[in-house]
This record gives sequence, C-alpha cells and structure tokens, in this order.
Amino acid sequence: MKTRQSIQSSFSVPQQRRLRKSILAWYDLHRRDLPWRASRDPYRVWLSEIMLQQTRVAAVIEHYRKFLSRFPTVEKLAAAREASVLAAWSGLGYYRRARMMHAAAKVIVREHGGNFPKSEEGLRTLPGIGRYTAAAIASIAFGEPVAVVDGNVERVLQRVAGKRLAGEELWNTANYFLDAKRPGDFNQAMMELGAVVCTPRTPICLTCPVIEMCATRGELAPAGKTAPQKKREIQYVLDVRNGEVFLVQRARDASLMPGMWELPETTSMNGGSRPTFTLRHSITLTDYTVQVWSAASSRELGKWTPVARLPKVALTGLARKILRKAAML
Ligand code: ADE
Repeated sequence: MKTRQSIQSSFSVPQQRRLRKSILAWYDLHRRDLPWRASRDPYRVWLSEIMLQQTRVAAVIEHYRKFLSRFPTVEKLAAAREASVLAAWSGLGYYRRARMMHAAAKVIVREHGGNFPKSEEGLRTLPGIGRYTAAAIASIAFGEPVAVVDGNVERVLQRVAGKRLAGEELWNTANYFLDAKRPGDFNQAMMELGAVVCTPRTPICLTCPVIEMCATRGELAPAGKTAPQKKREIQYVLDVRNGEVFLVQRARDASLMPGMWELPETTSMNGGSRPTFTLRHSITLTDYTVQVWSAASSRELGKWTPVARLPKVALTGLARKILRKAAML
C-alpha cells in the first residue's frame, strides 16, 4: 500500500521499534491512575470510552463511578428503564450516547447471551459503536491489534510524521505504528501522550518520549482557528413550596436533551430587583450567564417534584448545577 510505503520510508525498522518501546515505557511510568484502567472488563472499557468521547476526564471520573454502581453489569443496564439511564447520565451531556448504550446493552443480552462480541468487526454491529469505539474495546479488552484514532492520536501522528494526515492515511499510519503485542496499552499511550504532553497549543516536548524521532517537535500548528465563544444571558425560576420544586420537561423531539427535566425559563425578570444567585455555564460554543430567581412560576405545564426525589430525576446538566448551588441536591 502506498501509504505504508511512504511512512515506512521515513522510519527505519529499528526506529519504529524504538518509537513503540519508548511510548510504552513512558506510559508504564506516567499513565494516569484512572478508574477504568483497573479492569479489562469490556463493559467497563465500553462505558469509559463512550463517556470520554465528548467529555473531560475529570467529569467522566465522577459519573463513571456513579453509573457503574447503578448499573454494574450489561444485564442491569439492559433491564433498566430509559429514564433511569438518562438520570445516571445527567450532567454528562450528549444524551444520545446514553440511549445508544441502552439499546446496545439490550442487543448484547438478547442476541449475544450477555457477552460482548470479541472482535472489532463484531463490535461495530452494535448501536452507537463506530470505528473508534470498536477499536478501543477490541484492543483494550480483548488484545486485538487494531489502532484507534481520536483527535489526540491524530495530532501526535501528524507531528511525529511531519505532515497532515487525513482519512484512511491516518488510520493506516496508526496501524503501522501500533504495538501488536500490547495494542490496548499502546493505543491508550498514544491518546495519553496527546492529552498530557503533545497538547494542541503548547506541547511539553521536553518531557516527550519520542522527541528525537519527531519531525516537528510541536511546530505543526493545529488546522483552523477555534471559533470564539458566544456570550448569552438566560434566566430560570426556582419555585420551591412544601418540599417540592416545580420542573418542566423538554420536548420529546427537541434536538438537545429531549425529554429531560429542567427549571422553567423566564424572560420577565429584570429592572430593580436582583436574581437570587447567578452562575456561569458553558456549552460547546456559548458561555451562558445564568440568573436564577426564587419566584412563583407562571407555567401550567410542568410537575411538582419532591426535593428528595431529585437525585433520581433525569435532569439536564444545568438544572443539576442550579439545584446543587441552591443546596437541593
Ligand atoms: N481518551 C479516550 N479514551 C482514552 C483512554 N483509554 N486512555 C487515554 N485517553 C483516552
């Protein structure tokens, strides 16, 4: 294959070997002690990889433990009601991930007797499991020699090779470098290197295990500029009476967080008075200043929910944050 040849010619066989060895040795010494690294159980690997896709490691740690104690096995997840799965996912965002996991758990139990398919190919037949996730589970849980490519791996490979790589060329390059004896560790080492050393803006090249083999030493600038965050204000009503709080449900067909519960929004608070409290909330491209007003809600459509039940409700991340700040969660 052309790609393999072009990469191969820029790295001799001993160089390749040294690269693998250096990255793995670095990982053995410096790997972060993350809860999902204690086990090769495919259910746990799957859960962590799905959670990590759009979420920071720190936020994942907290939710991963909570989710696992609620649904310790794929059978428990498959048997759960969707509302409980969404409640356990609450605060992580991108809820489609939770719905797809729930659907895949049912398939695993119903069609595979509760056992995960053991190959990348088999895993890819499951809902919500694409090329990245299938390769991650197959290599980490089952030791299959298949490379993963995420944004971190892409950056590491491009900087080491000294050129932009896209599409199949990127996956081929990742597979070319992969350590076939420890594929799960090697994949995690590449992701980890990108996350903590070979970072987008200011890579810490002096601590990099492959600095001597790197064509750019951090100089390959990331493609494109990130868009500046937009700023918005948003107001919510916190109506609490007799140990109950008034919540509204997002539309079932809303594109974001369908069917989840939140506080009623308002546009009528302003002028002389001041909000009960204010907090900041960022989602993808927007930074929100959130004002929360203790007041009577004017909405008819909604539900009075006992405060004691709040931990079990599928709340949006922002609603959870507000209720925490109000010391109700
Ligand atoms: N990012 C996503 N999954 C990861 C893993 N298993 N190790 C390191 N970084 C990751």
